[in-house]
Amino acid sequence: MNLKVSFFLNGEKVEASVKPDTTLLNLLRDEFGLISVKEGCGYGECGACTVLLDGKPVNSCLILAPKVEGRHVTTIEGITPKDGLSPLQEAFIKKGAIQCGFCTPGMIISAHGLLKEKPDPTIDDIKIGISGNLCRCTGYIQIIEAIKDAARKKK
Ligand code: FES
Ligand code: FES
Repeated sequence: MNLKVSFFLNGEKVEASVKPDTTLLNLLRDEFGLISVKEGCGYGECGACTVLLDGKPVNSCLILAPKVEGRHVTTIEGITPKDGLSPLQEAFIKKGAIQCGFCTPGMIISAHGLLKEKPDPTIDDIKIGISGNLCRCTGYIQIIEAIKDAARKKK
């Protein structure tokens, strides 16, 4: 039996019919075509599927779609300005914090959540903020520098 779920996706009210065990990750990718939300591990270890749920980063592979009823879900598309890139996205490019790009949408969502909570994070805050996001390519140094750089620019 399918269930109806309505929620706000990147600020827009949407509705879908889902199986009770559909994950938010699969709903976003399969129903809404948001393939920026990546499936890495599928069980909460890699952070590739990170989205904001009511403003807080969560692993969408661990959230059942019916649980987002009435809530706000934000993907990388929802935090990207219409006319370009955010300072955080620019900083990732400038610092070379993107290589294969698989981790990047989730990583930027986590960094965005961190900067909203802590606009002037220490290096340790940044390390903790992205500790749920794995990157196999960059070695993290460039990512940490990019987040620090974006925080500096926002001051
Ligand atoms: S796919 Fe969700 S944490 Fe890895
Ligand atoms: S850039 Fe490849 S996994 Fe992070």
